[in-house]
Parts: sequence; structure tokens; C-alpha cells
Amino acid sequence: MIISPSILAADFANLQRDTVLLNSSKADYIHIDLMDGVFVPNISFGFPVTNAINKHATKPLDFHLMLENPDPYLNSCKDSGADYISVHYEACRHLHSTVAQIKVLDCKAGVAINPHTNVSLLEDIIKEINLVLIMSVNPGFGGQKFIERTYQKVSQTKELILKHNSNALIEVDGGVNLSNAPKLKTAGADMLVAGSFVFNSNDPVETIENLKAV
Ligand code: DX5
Ligand code: ZN
Repeated sequence: MIISPSILAADFANLQRDTVLLNSSKADYIHIDLMDGVFVPNISFGFPVTNAINKHATKPLDFHLMLENPDPYLNSCKDSGADYISVHYEACRHLHSTVAQIKVLDCKAGVAINPHTNVSLLEDIIKEINLVLIMSVNPGFGGQKFIERTYQKVSQTKELILKHNSNALIEVDGGVNLSNAPKLKTAGADMLVAGSFVFNSNDPVETIENLKAV
């Protein structure tokens, strides 16, 4: 399993310490949640903070943009060390064009869908993208309860990917823990985001290792 711990659950007064902690773990990526207070009812942090994280991170960065119309910010993500850039289906008027812009920057393009968004809406974009990010909570906050319907959405996404012979990976984000991770894997998830489950545990490095081994 590919593991992308979310820095949103880190101690923001000790970001260097927590970034170095993730460097020393078996994490594959560091998940970076950008929130604009418009698309979601919360504001997380901006590029001065992600640049500071990037200065210390030895893991590639997995950007999740919870921004209404993210196009003006794609370059800054690239400059901040983004490997993956995921934008929300619900936040992009010209999604096909946004995905193309991400690829021009030589980043991997992801499309995120909210819990209410039907997987079938990805049919015309699935061949173009590297990642489908399935939200298993409503975006905006860490520490929420996992929505059980997610398993079905992961299976439907897997079917869509196979049907179109797409290379996209499936990432699940929100309320992920060691109880739902094995079931998500069975349903077809390739990559798991975990914030509070990792950072609120006694030993985050060990928790990441356990998630990786599901
Ligand atoms: C929620 C964010 C998530 C969040 C996950 O809007 O997209 O990445 O950090 O946090 P947990 O794992 O605590 O649900
Ligand atoms: Zn996220």
C-alpha cells in the first residue's frame, strides 16, 4: 500500500520536526491539504508554509487542492515541490484543461471527488489522469468519521479504470485507520491518506509501517 500521511494533523509549531519524522518513516509521500475557505469551510495554510515543508521533506509531496478554481495556483504548487497535484471535480469549470496544465508542469494529475459525487462522472477524464482521490469524509477538516459507502465507490472506480485501460491509481482520504484500510485495499485502493490516525498515535512511525503493511 502506498501511504501518504497528511501534514494537516501535524503540530504546526513544530513542522520541521514532524516533516523530519515523516522522512524517517516508511511513508511514500507527504499529503499537503490546501484549503481556501471558499470551496471548503476552512483555511489550512498557503505557499510560504508549503515551501518551508518542502525545504525539509525528503519524501515527494502529494498536493490536495481544496480550492475553488485552482488554476492560478498550479505553478506555485510545482514551485513548492509537488509531485502529485489533485484538484476537485466540483471546483473546476474546465477540468480537462486544468488536468492538461498540471501535466505541462510535469506533475502527476489527480482528480478528487466529494462523497456525494458519482464515480461515473469521471468517465470522460479517467484516461487523462494519474490518480483518483476519493474523499471518504466531507473535505475541510481532519479527524472526521469515515463514510462507509466509500468501499463501493472504490470498487466502482476500479471498474472504470479497468474498462478504460487507464493507469490511474486510487487514493482514499479521510478517516482512514487500521480497521478500514484492509477493506479499502480489497476494494481496490492503491494509496491511503491518514492524518489524525498517524499523528495522534503513540508512535507515528510504527503506525505508518502498520498501514503500509495492510
Ligand atoms: C480533509 C483532508 C484530509 C485530512 C485527513 O479535508 O483532505 O487529507 O487531512 O485527515 P484524517 O486522516 O484525520 O481524516
Ligand atoms: Zn486531503
